[in-house]
Amino acid sequence: MLEKTYIMVKPDGVKRGLVGEIIRRIEAKGYKIVDLRLMRPNRELVEKHYDVHKDKPFFGELVDFISDSEVVGMVVEGEDVITVLRNMIGDKNPAIAASGTIRGDYANSLTKNIIHGSDSAETAEREISIWF
Ligand code: TYD
Ligand code: MG
Repeated sequence: MLEKTYIMVKPDGVKRGLVGEIIRRIEAKGYKIVDLRLMRPNRELVEKHYDVHKDKPFFGELVDFISDSEVVGMVVEGEDVITVLRNMIGDKNPAIAASGTIRGDYANSLTKNIIHGSDSAETAEREISIWF
């Protein structure tokens, strides 16, 4: 199915100069970037994005990490792009993330894990409307 997803290079990915590598992988897979923006989101926006986790113990640390820092948000379009990019992103747990995935190759922290990708069609629609 032709879908759109929200992808975000998190502050650690931007600081480490991984924006180009992430875009390269997305384009090499054959997906199209249909919107892209460098932002410094305020806490309110980040809290809204991670609303589903607001009662979790890691919520404060997570919002601190993303807020008021440079991130690169993008909308990516293609066949089954939501699931395929989640697979290319890899597991959030660095002990599990497979080599060849973005997190598997570049992340060694559960919180600072380089990249976000929407996990369902409903989430993608919601996140795109929050960020764009
Ligand atoms: P989650 O939605 O579970 O992971 P994913 O990013 O793969 O969809 O969690 C959202 C983010 O919250 C995750 O990317 C990193 C952070 N996080 C923590 O900092 N500590 C934790 O224990 C968990 C589960 C997530
Ligand atoms: Mg998630």
